Amino acid sequence: MPKTTTLLIINGPNLNLLGTREPATYGTATLTDVEAVAADAAGSHGWTVNCFQSNHEGELVDAIQAATGTADGIVINAGAYTHTSIALRDALTAVGLPVVEVHISNVHRREEFRQHSYLSAVADAVIVGAGISGYRFAVDFLIEKLSSGSAGYAAP
Ligand code: DQA
Repeated sequence: MPKTTTLLIINGPNLNLLGTREPATYGTATLTDVEAVAADAAGSHGWTVNCFQSNHEGELVDAIQAATGTADGIVINAGAYTHTSIALRDALTAVGLPVVEVHISNVHRREEFRQHSYLSAVADAVIVGAGISGYRFAVDFLIEKLSSGSAGYAAP
């Protein structure tokens, strides 16, 4: 069984601007809305979330490292660091917690430089293009996985 019944929700650079940033791509929901979606999804299972946002790569690494002992799983939208950061990938591997990578937009429909993620290979699941509902799907998946040992149709 999980130890903390807490998930860490991490949002990376520029996601603090949700609501006003490129609304045609990211919608009009704010980061506060995103965090409420995650908290509500977790709360419906009796779980809680710790939410963290930073525009700084090293702070994101620190937050991932701090998940050890304080969270059972991680939902991460690393923003543009998704496409550049070996440091974030190494941090996720180091802590070894279940991870879901989320992107609000469908990155596969966008520029070629968004097609590669350094994080996907170390994530248990990747959710793209579902808008901010992706955070809810990610929370539900992680809690199901952590509560039962494996999520319904999840690969091992
Ligand atoms: C994003 C997609 C990234 O390519 C971009 O750099 C972001 C947001 C998304 O949620 O769709 O900042 O992660």
